[in-house]
Amino acid sequence: MAYIEQHSAGLPTPVRLGLIGSGWMGAFHGESIARRVPGAVLAAVADPNVDSAASVASQLGTAKVTADAADIMADPDIDAVIIASPARFHASLIAQAAAAGKHVFCEKPAAQSLEELDAALRAVETAGVHFQIGFNRRYATDFQAAKKDLAEGIVGEPQLLRSLTRDPGTGSIGHAARIPAWTIFLETLIHDFDTLNWFNEGAEPVEVYAVADALVEPSLRDQGFLDTAVVTIRYSNGALAVAEANFSALYGYDVRGEVFGSKGMVQAGRPTETAALRYTAEGLSAETPRLNVELFRDAYTDELVDFAAAVRARRDGAQPPSGAFTLTPGAADARRALAMALACIESVQQGGPVAVTAVSSNSKAGV
Ligand SMILES: NC(=O)c1ccc[n+]([C@@H]2O[C@H](COP(=O)([O-])OP(=O)(O)OC[C@H]3O[C@@H](n4cnc5c(N)ncnc54)[C@H](O)[C@@H]3O)[C@@H](O)[C@H]2O)c1
Repeated sequence: MAYIEQHSAGLPTPVRLGLIGSGWMGAFHGESIARRVPGAVLAAVADPNVDSAASVASQLGTAKVTADAADIMADPDIDAVIIASPARFHASLIAQAAAAGKHVFCEKPAAQSLEELDAALRAVETAGVHFQIGFNRRYATDFQAAKKDLAEGIVGEPQLLRSLTRDPGTGSIGHAARIPAWTIFLETLIHDFDTLNWFNEGAEPVEVYAVADALVEPSLRDQGFLDTAVVTIRYSNGALAVAEANFSALYGYDVRGEVFGSKGMVQAGRPTETAALRYTAEGLSAETPRLNVELFRDAYTDELVDFAAAVRARRDGAQPPSGAFTLTPGAADARRALAMALACIESVQQGGPVAVTAVSSNSKAGV
């Protein structure tokens, strides 16, 4: 017997992605690109902590490592960037990448003020590059199933919506003290705002009323730390929504969404790590997902599969595949959710409801 020769003619040239920021989320995105996103290559890693960049790159077989994201921007071999630096750098990195002609995937939030976001999005528009924001919940299979039902009108007119995030914990007071002010709105509930906006597509968030406190770490309350929040939202179609978050669910990472409408209700959110249920003399129990990268492993992969497909389609002059409902979160989604988070900050500061459109383009979170 001899091997039959197999030629791989016709396989598309992979898209080459540069990772900017190789911390917790960036390292996971790097691993997804290198191991789980077909037709994508992790071409380079940038992080001012160059040891972190080198460690991620060497584990994933990536040769190019730099402390300066500008090297990735200037690299003609790189098609697009994945921005996973801390949020305060996002807007300027988006603008730099767009000016260099790179397509952009950016972790949330895309900016910390509407003014800097608008400047970054103008750069994206001027350059004509593809932009995607990291609202990964849209890619979770249960959230997509709920969205499909909503798009098909199965739930009727949305009347009440709900989204919640209970993070698995701040770990220690030392860690909590390093979490920037207003993170609960700008980096946690911003996911819930996008879920609600996506579920209630076509309507605009009109008004928010946010209350928040430090119930997990009360000793940090005086420093302005917030770990628990509830937000009510009024939408332009009359629907009312509630978003809530807490930083310390002892039972794991708990994310849920729900829409109640004129014809019924749809719920999303996976309560257990697997479908296995344990029945014993003590009763019924199950494993729960503990980390975001456990609950959303596939969703984090699929958002990058979507991004790589869009970059490939732009490069090859093809139409990206279209689905039964809107999926890819883009510039308008990033802006709408950020405006809500900023309105929540004003709401907490003022102690009352705030019109989302009243958030001026230069109001900036005090971070
Ligand atoms: N979608 C999600 O579910 C999810 C989950 C966690 C974090 N995030 C987001 O990912 C981003 C990063 O969060 P993280 O938890 O990975 O933080 P992290 O602190 O673990 O990592 C940030 C990394 O960026 C590097 N960095 C700092 N300045 C930089 C710059 N100018 N250019 C490039 N790199 C720079 C740091 O050295 C660090 O390695 C945040 O915006 C966060 O909100 C999203």
